[in-house]
Amino acid sequence: MPKKPFRVGMIGYGFMGRAHSNAYRQVGQFFPSNHQVVLKAACARNKDAIQAFADQWGYESIETDWRKLVERPDIDAVDICTPNNLHCEIALAAAANKKMILCEKPLAMNAEEGRKMVQAVEAAGVANIVWYNYRRVPAVTLAKQLVAEGRLGKIFHYRAKFLQDWTISPELPQGGNGLWRLDAAVAGSGVSGDLLAHCIDTAVWLNGRMSNVCAMTETFIKERKHQETGQVQKVTIDDACTFFGTFENGSLANFESTRYARGHKALYTLEINGENASIAWDLHDLQRLQYFDHRTESKLRGWSSIHVTDSDHPYMGKWWVPGLAVGYDTSFTHQVADFLEGIEQGNPAGPTFRDAMDTQVVLDAILTSAKSKQWVNVDKA
Ligand SMILES: NC(=O)c1ccc[n+]([C@@H]2O[C@H](COP(=O)([O-])OP(=O)(O)OC[C@H]3O[C@@H](n4cnc5c(N)ncnc54)[C@H](O)[C@@H]3O)[C@@H](O)[C@H]2O)c1
Repeated sequence: MPKKPFRVGMIGYGFMGRAHSNAYRQVGQFFPSNHQVVLKAACARNKDAIQAFADQWGYESIETDWRKLVERPDIDAVDICTPNNLHCEIALAAAANKKMILCEKPLAMNAEEGRKMVQAVEAAGVANIVWYNYRRVPAVTLAKQLVAEGRLGKIFHYRAKFLQDWTISPELPQGGNGLWRLDAAVAGSGVSGDLLAHCIDTAVWLNGRMSNVCAMTETFIKERKHQETGQVQKVTIDDACTFFGTFENGSLANFESTRYARGHKALYTLEINGENASIAWDLHDLQRLQYFDHRTESKLRGWSSIHVTDSDHPYMGKWWVPGLAVGYDTSFTHQVADFLEGIEQGNPAGPTFRDAMDTQVVLDAILTSAKSKQWVNVDKA
């Protein structure tokens, strides 16, 4: 049987452009399906730069205007790897052209934009997914299985943090290439949309929706030179954000994120404490899941460190032999594999745009709470 082509048009060639391209090239080797990924076109504004990227990764063609890319009849799926302020506009245009859409996180600048995106993909009837890739780190997927099997019992606590240290220097400009994350007009928010979005997505996936939040944010460096205009401008992103909250299942949330935690580069950790058991995970040791089961005979009871590399662990049967780990990059490969399986079986892989709204409404609530210094109820997605 000839395979059905899955012709990708990628917009943006930065960090995520590379991560996704790597996944598209890898997926057919390790997760064969009825689809054959074809790297059809890569798009960015700088012609020489995108041509070099296309040559390096094997894209057949380039575009310098994303509007042209989303209209091309030889593209089946549009992959949005641009800064956050372009996600909505590109997604609406791609949906209007009946393209499948794989969109980077956060889905949108805010919930209002996100709702328009959900409406557009659902009206067009096109498959869609958001790249909350941490769901598909095998140890995190195993955590999902353990929770779904009810092993933890009633959940009391969910805590997560995502710590970095790369914006401490006041000399660092904001805006433009590589530094758009510091410019709220382009990023939408600071660490909340960039880092906490991941923590919240994993949390709502593992532990259900959130009901309310109480947040504080801080902008430690008040003014920075804008890289594009050269003007010194007010910084309006959140440099750090801490929040509490409750989940609909009654458990308590405790989240923290900052880019001012000297020594930490990408420390994403999560821990869930249930009546019978607890689990913990750490991105710096991503192939391990820590598990404590209180029902174990007391003299043997203790935290176990599960090396998530055995063939019956999620995704691992498709990789190497037991004991050999896979890395960060494969979470994207797993996402493409699941997306293709979803469209083949008519059972869409998540998080769809609609699923990602659960995170988007929490993000809006956090910023509203921090501004008003009040508890805020999380809106319906
Ligand atoms: N899933 C994850 O773990 C993860 C990690 C990093 C970033 N992200 C998300 O991915 C997205 C991109 O982040 P990044 O780190 O790759 O950024 P980046 O700055 O490395 O790359 C952004 C790319 O967008 C391109 N671009 C900007 N404006 C464009 C336009 N008008 N037309 C075409 N291309 C344009 C740039 O040329 C660049 O190649 C963001 O939404 C970010 O939040 C997700």
